[in-house]
Order: sequence, then C-alpha cells, then structure tokens
Amino acid sequence: MTVHFIGAGPGAPDLLTLRGRDLIAASPVCLYAGSLVPEGVLAHCPPGARIVNTAPLSLDEIIAEIADADAEGKDVARLHSGDLSIWSAMGEQLRRLRALGIPYTVTPGVPSFSAAAAALEAELTLPGLAQTVVLTRTPGRASAMPEGENLAAFAATGAVLAIHLSIHLLDQVVAELTPHYSADCPVAIVWRASWPEQRIVRATLATLDAAVGTEMERTALILVGKTLGAADFDESRLYAADYDRRYRPVGAEPRFPEAS
Ligand SMILES: C[S@@+](CC[C@H](N)C(=O)[O-])C[C@H]1O[C@@H](n2cnc3c(N)ncnc32)[C@H](O)[C@@H]1O
Repeated sequence: MTVHFIGAGPGAPDLLTLRGRDLIAASPVCLYAGSLVPEGVLAHCPPGARIVNTAPLSLDEIIAEIADADAEGKDVARLHSGDLSIWSAMGEQLRRLRALGIPYTVTPGVPSFSAAAAALEAELTLPGLAQTVVLTRTPGRASAMPEGENLAAFAATGAVLAIHLSIHLLDQVVAELTPHYSADCPVAIVWRASWPEQRIVRATLATLDAAVGTEMERTALILVGKTLGAADFDESRLYAADYDRRYRPVGAEPRFPEAS
C-alpha cells in the first residue's frame, strides 16, 4: 500500500501530469483537497473508488482515512491543487505517515503561478529587468508569516512577486508595494487561471483598485513586476550569434571545440 501525493494542477483537467493521471486511475481511494481540485481530474478515479473531499476534515481525520486504506491494503491518491511544494499542507501529512511507517510517493503538478504566467503569455524573468520571481503570500488566519518575510522586504529587491492567498487584501498589498515599485509598475491579477471562467486584469499599482471587480475573490494570483507586459528588454545572450557555447561553437578558438 502506498499514498501517492499528486499535484492536481491549477484547474484545467488536462494540466495534470500523465504520471498523476495514471496513479489516480490505479488507486482505489482518492482524497482530494476541496473545490480547487477539478471534477475532471477526479474523473480518472477507477469505478467504485472511495472519493473523499478532505476540506471539512481535520488532519487527524485525514490520517485516519489513510490508516483505514492502509489496513485494507488499498493505495491512496492524495490530490492537492497546483504543485505540492507550496501551500499544500503536504509536509505535515508526510511527517505523520513517516511516523506511522506508511509509504508514500510525491508527483509534482503545474503550480498556479505558472498557469497565471501562461495566461498572461509572459516570461517573468526578462534580461535586464528581473531575474528573480518570489512566490509569497500575506499572513492569513491559519498561517502567520515568519519574521523578515514581508512584502516590503521582497519588494526592496525589485523581483517579480507572485502573491498568493491575498486577493482579499488587495488594498493593503498595493499600499505596501507602492513605495518600493513605482506607481506605474505593471500588475496583473489572474483569477482562476486555466479554468473556463478565467479572468485577467492588467493595470499598474496606481490604477489597479479601479480595475478589479469584487467578483474576483479567492482563487486569484497577484503578479507585480517590471517584466509584466514589457516590450523594452534586452535579448538573451544565450542565442546571440557571437555567443560561444557548447552546441554552437563560435570563432577561431571556441571554448568547446569538440562539440558537434
Ligand atoms: C492554498 S494555495 C495553493 C497553491 C498551489 N499549491 C499552487 O501550486 O499554486 C491557494 C492559492 O493559490 C492561488 N491559486 C491556486 N489556483 C489558482 C488558479 N487556478 N488561478 C489563480 N490562482 C490560483 C491563489 O492565490 C490561491 O489563494
């Protein structure tokens, strides 16, 4: 028996990995984390599977479900939205499973910040403008922020910020960021990236408030940074005609002469 932790992706059912799909199809028990895991992903469960929404369950109750499956020798597909490496609560479940000696695997998923960037048709790291993306959030009822991790500190670097779990605090986010980025710094909100009802708002820190409607609550990402919508940026040296590299040696004395 094995518990398969699977990143279920940002919403569109076809943004699930093939490995994730096959593990779901092979697992007679499926525990999924609430409404962010789409029905289309659950459709891969085998006929007769026990399918449990864990949103109303405590950690103890979730582990009890897994322990029951373990006692019956049944594999479990454990689904969380996006990728498992950020805000999935996988860490505490793995710790319990290690203590119980229950084996598990981890299969990554498409994170929502990637889906949001794709919706914006944006490369977040553009030469000369930004080479760092910070995946962050504001404090919530369930999770305080460790000291030093705050928007002002990240903004001071000029990095692109992908701010999760914070659309309800938009005014506060804008107020904290504006002293660090210019008021005309581009901002994009992507609501339900990859869902059929996906919506995008592009604005600046100064104009954002007026541009966002109240319907964009909960499942939205706030992206802030100079690369959003930028047209004026350097080309990467990687593909420059005179850039000597292993697969494209250049000049009389290339650094990688054996490359073919
Ligand atoms: C609990 S976190 C889960 C993050 C997830 N593990 C990931 O990899 O993106 C939920 C937050 O992620 C963001 N999010 C998740 N799915 C999204 C989507 N399809 N579109 C926009 N934001 C999304 C929102 O900021 C939401 O408040």
